[in-house]
Amino acid sequence: MATFQRHRRLRRTAWLRDLVREHRVHADDLVYPMFVEEGLADRSPITSMPGIDRFGLDAFRREIVRLSELGLKSVILFGIPLAKDELSSSAYAERGVVQEAIRAAKAENPDLIVMTDVCLCEYNPLGHCGVVHDGKIVNDPSLDLIAKTALSHAAAGADVVAPSDMMDGRVARIRETLDDAGYEDVPILSYAVKYASAFYGPFREAADSAPAFGDRKTYQMDPANAREALREAQADIAEGADMLMVKPALSYLDVTARLRETFALPIATYNVSAEYSMVKAAAANGWIDERAIVLEMMTSFKRAGADIILTYHAPDVLQWLREER
Ligand code: PBG
Ligand code: ZN
Repeated sequence: MATFQRHRRLRRTAWLRDLVREHRVHADDLVYPMFVEEGLADRSPITSMPGIDRFGLDAFRREIVRLSELGLKSVILFGIPLAKDELSSSAYAERGVVQEAIRAAKAENPDLIVMTDVCLCEYNPLGHCGVVHDGKIVNDPSLDLIAKTALSHAAAGADVVAPSDMMDGRVARIRETLDDAGYEDVPILSYAVKYASAFYGPFREAADSAPAFGDRKTYQMDPANAREALREAQADIAEGADMLMVKPALSYLDVTARLRETFALPIATYNVSAEYSMVKAAAANGWIDERAIVLEMMTSFKRAGADIILTYHAPDVLQWLREER
């Protein structure tokens, strides 16, 4: 009689391992973040994120065509406007850079799921996600501008709006604003659980959105807190969120797993800029196998319970998944 279990029986061949694999990464899971800069001719590289560029509108169109041919099904857009002001008015301008990019992307590929990051930090000179009064980021006056921004994205044809500002009550205000304007079918992907993280460093160069004073700790979450994530998620569900996001991804897999166990909504995780840049830097030095590392990371997001993965690696992952078939 056997006195131990032979776990290795099901690991003997590649086909057996395939047969019992619990989680898989699929092209359908991926959302690719893209930066569109107003007035930019062609495209320009982001130094801190090797392989990622800011796009002018024409170059953006061409890239959407290329990515669609590669099998990409979804993007999330970030805008870099020409001018910033106190009211973040280019965030909700009808001809704003994101609004134009939405129209361009939908014109090139109507099936593409175009998501938009809804926030104010790229659009005001102080670089905060909400309105600033006397050196403080004030919650309620921010809601109007955030809802206006979401509405302008929906009006330009966005398929999903994703508020990332972390003001309280924004999901309810956005839902109400969209419904009143006849956009009741536009879903909200809430950055419900967004930590005040050093892993956003390279993004702030990419999006030109570093805060001019202070930090984001009065509105983004303390990295030490996990129970609080459940409260944030609960509140956003009550306010009408259709999908929830955990951000960043790698250091917060436990939080994704807890949300997965607790709630039935689709869950996304954002594999953020520094998570990407660390991999690229190590790969450039020849210290790691980039493909194996990235696919293992993607698998870990699925295993933790994420349905949706926002990642700068998306085009590479699509290519690698293709080669595996
Ligand atoms: C804007 C926003 C940020 C990111 C997504 N939306 C920056 C921040 O909140 O500081 C980070 C994305 C990344 O690091 O890749 N609110
Ligand atoms: Zn912001």
